[in-house]
Amino acid sequence: MSEPVILGIESTCDETAAAVVRGKTLVSNVVASSMNEHARYGGVIPEIASRAHAEAFVPVVSQALADAQMDISDVDAIAVSAGPGLAGCLAVGVSGAKSLAWAANKPLYGINHVIGHVAVTQLQFGDVPENTLALIVSGGHTSILRVGDIATDVSVIGTTLDDAAGECFDKVARLLGFPYPGGPHIDRHAQSGDPHALRVPQGLTQGKAAAAHPYDFSFSGVKTAVARWIESESAKGHEIPVDDVCAALADSVATVLSKKTMAAAEKFGADTVIVGGGFSANSQLREALRQSGVDHGIDVRIPELKLCTDNGAMVAMLGSNLVSAGVKPSSMDFSIDSSMS
Ligand code: KG4
Ligand code: ZN
Repeated sequence: MSEPVILGIESTCDETAAAVVRGKTLVSNVVASSMNEHARYGGVIPEIASRAHAEAFVPVVSQALADAQMDISDVDAIAVSAGPGLAGCLAVGVSGAKSLAWAANKPLYGINHVIGHVAVTQLQFGDVPENTLALIVSGGHTSILRVGDIATDVSVIGTTLDDAAGECFDKVARLLGFPYPGGPHIDRHAQSGDPHALRVPQGLTQGKAAAAHPYDFSFSGVKTAVARWIESESAKGHEIPVDDVCAALADSVATVLSKKTMAAAEKFGADTVIVGGGFSANSQLREALRQSGVDHGIDVRIPELKLCTDNGAMVAMLGSNLVSAGVKPSSMDFSIDSSMS
């Protein structure tokens, strides 16, 4: 098979998405989001997200095929995110993909969503070089991965011991009265604040725990420190300097993410760092990584935003890599794995 045509389906959280990839070329890409339905609850409600996937699945997949001017018979294989993610959401996407694969007699690949965030960068930057490191950051994950071969050799170097970076931003944003998702509000306000106006600790960078976890993250203490500071300032009757709080938080999180990623790149001799996940939209992180890339002589690849956030192209692209590498399809009784590592 020269250039496999892959339909990718994504439903790990609040995006129902489908895309068609031919080889390493994006042919179509459709994303529906239930984000607005969750805003008033301050976070994604799994039950609402699952129901939205059930409604959007057929229209989104049909649109992705129509935009590619194809029907399912033109597709060589189907790929679907099997984890990690919200169990009910994964179940809708995987059941839908299984039904489609069964009815159309197509091979099906249950893929790891986090590796999909790495794979998708091939659509913009070309092949993933050997011995690349990836930093994947979103509301659900914060991981440093080592990529020997995108289809067959990916390992976890570091992860968060508690909250994901996006989750930490969303929680502080809620304290400051911003609607969900609060990350982009923190980013915007941080641009006019003073990061040194208050001291926010850099999680897991000092002491024995840091030495034992050089490439892991911890953001829950950072969130608690900011919450305590806000409480104590409020108790004194002081007005909260929102821009400064955002700037200090953003500075702490972006610094730790980029420092640990670059330390891991040096340790493992990687000269390419790939960045993905919705949090890679963050201005402070992009700037910190860009600058450290220049300082360390490392090629930092941050894709355009629509490829950073959850989408079907990441699933289709990884499916394409698996087909090209001759990896066997999943058996039809494979299960979702909401905490897949
Ligand atoms: O990948 P994504 O769209 O969904 C998942 O969590 O899987 O990432 C969304 C996360 C949210 O936590 C959101 O607040 C955060 O990414 N985010 C940002 C920015 N844009 C999105 N956080 C900080 N700065 C941003 N500009
Ligand atoms: Zn994601």
